[in-house]
Amino acid sequence: MTGAAATPPAAPGLFISFEGIDGAGKSTHIEALAERLRAQGRVLVNTREPGGTALGEKLRELVLHDAMEPLTEALLMFAARREHVARVIVPALAAGQVVLCDRFADATFAYQGGGRGFDWRTLQQLELLALATQGLEPDLSRNSPLQPDLTLWFDLPPAVAAARLAGARVPDKFEAQPAAFFEAVRAGYARRQAEAPARFARIDADQPREAVWRAVEAAVRGRGWIA
Ligand code: TMP
Repeated sequence: MTGAAATPPAAPGLFISFEGIDGAGKSTHIEALAERLRAQGRVLVNTREPGGTALGEKLRELVLHDAMEPLTEALLMFAARREHVARVIVPALAAGQVVLCDRFADATFAYQGGGRGFDWRTLQQLELLALATQGLEPDLSRNSPLQPDLTLWFDLPPAVAAARLAGARVPDKFEAQPAAFFEAVRAGYARRQAEAPARFARIDADQPREAVWRAVEAAVRGRGWIA
């Protein structure tokens, strides 16, 4: 077969992740940002972790509801992520699409590293193993895992998040954790931000929804991705 050269995408792919403790209120802003980007003619992939593929969604059910060893939990998060990156995220970015991802690798550092107290360096090794890719192939020689272009971290005190969640739904394994766990998760996010400050925009999520949305808009507009 004489393969015609692939047409390069009209716009470069864009990868934005959304992070924060449970109850931070990411969802409505993900939807609103998706609308804005669609209105500018971008093709969107709206996805989440753990999940985003058929296998990832099965793993999600397990990790959110079954008790397991901390390393097992971390491995399953990265296993689901590996599938997601290889089957959904990398192909979408290669096609010039915008990937909006509700949680990505920072969540593993925050929840399994910060919250559970799992070794940070081991998580970095797993991240490299699962996410150092050249196209779709794992490539450890790259020595740097795939990262979002921008991570919007919805930050707020755990007590405020807990009050928002109270009675909203039956809590999963993580949502049922005490306030001290979420303090540690929050510290995990702060550590990830300190390690990659240019990638992060910290959004003060302890404000009325409109003000939070204006902060989200400002972060994305500041990078020139919306008008
Ligand atoms: P969600 O409720 O935002 O969909 O996220 C599912 C839960 O899984 C949430 O409590 C955070 C947790 N989680 C981890 O512990 N580690 C991870 O790597 C990810 C992606 C989520």
